[in-house]
Formats: sequence, structure tokens, C-alpha cells
Amino acid sequence: MCHPGWQDALLAGRGQGELLELDGGQSWVRCRISSPIVTNMADTGSTTDSIVVLVSGYGSNLQALMDATADPAYGVRIAAVGADRDGIEGLARAQRAGIPTFVCRVADFATRAEWDAALASQVAAYRPRLVVLAGFLKLTGEAFLGQFGGRTVNTHPALSPSFPGIHGPQDALDYGVKVTGCTLFVVDAGVDTGPIVAQSAVSVHDDDTAEILHERIKTAERQMLVEYVGRMVRDGFSVTERKVTIS
Ligand code: GRF
Repeated sequence: MCHPGWQDALLAGRGQGELLELDGGQSWVRCRISSPIVTNMADTGSTTDSIVVLVSGYGSNLQALMDATADPAYGVRIAAVGADRDGIEGLARAQRAGIPTFVCRVADFATRAEWDAALASQVAAYRPRLVVLAGFLKLTGEAFLGQFGGRTVNTHPALSPSFPGIHGPQDALDYGVKVTGCTLFVVDAGVDTGPIVAQSAVSVHDDDTAEILHERIKTAERQMLVEYVGRMVRDGFSVTERKVTIS
């Protein structure tokens, strides 16, 4: 099922569209679209060093950011951690560290668009300079991207444009690639299609399972995320068409 307010399309095969999530029995699939982002950061009264991190699960990428922010020289402050569900370790990590948290559940809203707008409002309350999706398993929509497009980044456990969607490590194994990795990108309206900030390559081993490969990718992913989120917040960045330049 496609949400009429989004640029979604239900497509038959993987590689064109990707099943991303199941909510209340509905399957949401989004196609790739071209959506140039012009710039960011020169806006909106955001606080200069703060980020909001959105999570859906274990939160090891969040933990890496939390560990990095313990050093003032890193120059980044996590203003809040948000989630689309309760009871996850990602939220617990933030709560143990005294970081404000919020939960914005799709099921609590009549429409997906209302959820998306509420999520944007909750994030906006913390006036972040950058929003980091770190294992956040929901697609953001028009309202969110209207407010935070161009200054929201996401990590993907594959080397884009290969293997978009939530099965990146399994898809890499199935295809038989010898090298995969992770990608940090600026979120646009597509599925893992946004302009690429950074990538890191990871070897595939003959005896890998998807779980083992994903853990190896996540080790590289955490390092990449910490390095580049720090640089983006400290130094600023611009996005012109598909080219991301950190100042
Ligand atoms: C990461 O590999 C991320 O790219 C993917 O899900 C994983 C989240 O891991 N979308 P964690 O919750 O940060 O441990």
C-alpha cells in the first residue's frame, strides 16, 4: 500500500522498490526518485553543536556517538534521542546517560502523515543542527523532510547504490559480492538514495552469515558515523546535487 501524500510507489521487484516496514498489516514501499538537495545548515536558529539521534533498536551506533560526545573536543552534543517504539535498548542507553528521550509511534496517529509531522515537531523542539538516523526503521515523510531535509543523515549497511533497504547484509551475501560496507548519506525521499557523505568497505568472508557480516559492517559503520557526524557539525557541509562537501 502506498501513502498518497508521499512519493511512494508500489513496485514489484527489489531493486526498484523495497519493502521497508510493516505497520498494522500495511506494507510500505518507496521507489527511488531523483531529489536534488541544494544546501543546509545556514538556517533556522538551530543550536550550533546539537544533534538529535533517532533509533529503533539496539543503538550501538548511538552508543558510539554518545561515547564520542563525552570528549568536549568532539564538539557535538546529543540534545535528545527519539524512537518510533518503546522498550528498546537504544532508548535505555540514552536514559542511563541522562539524555532526554521521546517516543513517537505510528500507531498513535490516525495517518502516517500526522505521525510524520509529529515526529518533525518533536525533533524541532530540540533545535538540532543535524538529525542522525541511527538504525531508525521508519521512512521520514514530507513534513519531516520539509523541515529537516538536507540536514538529516542516515547510515546504511551496504555500499550504496548497491543493496538498498533493510536487508543489505543478506542481499550482499545472496549476490555473492566479495566486498560490501556501509554508507552515510543525506536523507532524501528515496530508499537509501541520498547524496553520499562517506563510505567504508568491508570484506565478505566465505563462511559469513548475514549476522556475522552485519556485525563486521557495524564496526566500520560506527567509526564512519562518529568521524563524519563530528566533521559535519563542527565544520558544516553543503550538498549540491549529489555532491556532499564538508567545509
Ligand atoms: C545499522 O547497521 C544500521 O545501518 C541499520 O541497522 C543497524 C542498527 O544498529 N539500519 P544499531 O541499532 O545502531 O546497533
